[in-house]
Amino acid sequence: MCGIVGAVAERNVVQILLEGLRRLEYRGYDSAGVALIHNDDLNIVRRIGKVKALSDAINDENGLGTTGIAHTRWATHGGVTEANAHPHVSSERFAVVHNGIIENHKSLRESLTAKGYRFNSDTDTETIAHTVADIRKGTDTLLEAVLSAVKSFHGAYGTVIVDKHDPSTMVVARSGSPLVIGLGIGENFIASDQMALLPVTRRFIFLEEGDVAEIKRESVRIIDANGNDVEREVTESNVEHDAGDKAGYRHYMLKEIYEQPSVIRNTLQGRVSPDGVASDIFGRGSDEIFAKTEHVKIIACGTSYHAGMTARYWLEAFAGVSCDVEIASEFRYRKSVVKPNSLLVTISQSGETADTLAALKLAKESGYMSSLAICNVDGSSLVRESALSFMTRAGAEIGVASTKAFTTQLAGFLMLVLAIGKHKGMSSEQEQAILQGLAELPSKLEETLALANEIDDLAEEFSDKHHSLFLGRGDQYPIAMEGALKLKEISYIHAEAYASGELKHGPLALIDADMPVIVVAPNNELLEKLQSNVEEVRARGGIMYVFADKDAQFASDETMRVVNVPHCSEAIAPIVYTLPLQLLSYYVALIKGTDVDQPRNLAKSVTVE
Ligand code: F6R
Repeated sequence: MCGIVGAVAERNVVQILLEGLRRLEYRGYDSAGVALIHNDDLNIVRRIGKVKALSDAINDENGLGTTGIAHTRWATHGGVTEANAHPHVSSERFAVVHNGIIENHKSLRESLTAKGYRFNSDTDTETIAHTVADIRKGTDTLLEAVLSAVKSFHGAYGTVIVDKHDPSTMVVARSGSPLVIGLGIGENFIASDQMALLPVTRRFIFLEEGDVAEIKRESVRIIDANGNDVEREVTESNVEHDAGDKAGYRHYMLKEIYEQPSVIRNTLQGRVSPDGVASDIFGRGSDEIFAKTEHVKIIACGTSYHAGMTARYWLEAFAGVSCDVEIASEFRYRKSVVKPNSLLVTISQSGETADTLAALKLAKESGYMSSLAICNVDGSSLVRESALSFMTRAGAEIGVASTKAFTTQLAGFLMLVLAIGKHKGMSSEQEQAILQGLAELPSKLEETLALANEIDDLAEEFSDKHHSLFLGRGDQYPIAMEGALKLKEISYIHAEAYASGELKHGPLALIDADMPVIVVAPNNELLEKLQSNVEEVRARGGIMYVFADKDAQFASDETMRVVNVPHCSEAIAPIVYTLPLQLLSYYVALIKGTDVDQPRNLAKSVTVE
């Protein structure tokens, strides 16, 4: 979390930094700040709130500098105050921005305080500033000071440090939090995500774990974790991104919901045809690995975890391969047994989620046959650290609540089912059913989006609600979970999801007229069972909102509102039924007046554990 951007140039860099922060705001938006070096002075401007508050505070006097660093914060240590906003300063000379957590900050704080350093914030970051300042007293350069200082930091961090006495240098260190160097002509940049730098360069160097780099206007020097000077590959980015463009939609989230038919066309493009799935679309050699795969282990967080849960139903039912799914933060801290010939699949929109990355690292040491990342960001840490990869091609997702990233992950998983299933004796009927489903998917999503007005109307009924239940069965259970997550994230209504067969084992006690119950009901083999669950709710005076296939024979009455979702094949139903739930949470959030694109307390890329 937290966004970092920095620049060393001949021109004034303040607008580059502010634009970079705007593009990184998805990483955190509690407060923002900038440090600029101008005429041997360090100008610091910090504001609580979004980047807009910071840019409003910048003027011709405080907004000058040819070297600068900037930060948008998602608070970990210390509340949301201006004093805790980055950059943090030591000795009126060194300024630091930081993403991640310095776990041993308490002991560092004690020893630095004993040496006479005064702390002005509650943050762990300030210990970086004072440690570097202290060590710099005995070194010739800032680079040497940082190389020595990082030895005393425990935890995951990405940090950038400037010294007003060395105005054309930034020193950066990466340990567990991503940092990318942007190469310009006579100017260079640093950021926690390449998106921040796209207006100024397309040439990037992704730093590796343990790297420390000295960035000057004309040069970049990188020193690896072993203390050796290294050359890292320069990559040319073809990422498309225009964070400023909502294309006429009121929110990014709405735009991204509506983009789903077209981005899913991109996901499928060139990868699947009426004859089947193209070979090796999951990376060179993937077909050979799938032929040997006897078990699939899926690891992810949040919405991506829900995609993995859906995929488990598909992999076992359609491809006939055993599968289990686990939350990354659980997997990384428990002892687990690896089944023979297991393929590890991680899923992540950002490719930078700290828990998922740590789980991948652990799994790689634990005997998995191979690792596959299903990801939306090419060049991200997860992709670089996995043997195989599959890009979901959803395009940049700006809304903090994930929408199109999720449905493209699901489309990717259906292709994985085909790619693994062909080695496991999947019947041609089953293969054709999935292929046909994928072929009609974009148009089915377009038809489903036409329900928006009806759902908008229905959302009114949630205006005074504080709790809700989502129900689904089989591969719609994870879709109910995803629907509940969307509603709680952006409307702040408490939402729980249950596999509807579980109702009678406890949650029925919650049912009354104030607890809306949202049901996803495609016309599948579990429909009758689901209908019985609906009757259980009705008998207890519950009010239901049922998203159902029109053949499912649900009819609206005083206790139930039915929204007919276009009929679709079984394989793609989880993707199709996701859209009405996304729209429902969006319209409920509008009524509740929340910040739809940047809901409170959240950040898009969770790079701390
Ligand atoms: C919810 C949401 C989060 C993410 C989770 C994992 O809308 O976006 O739950 O899915 O933080 O993030 P990624 O997919 O980037 O690993």
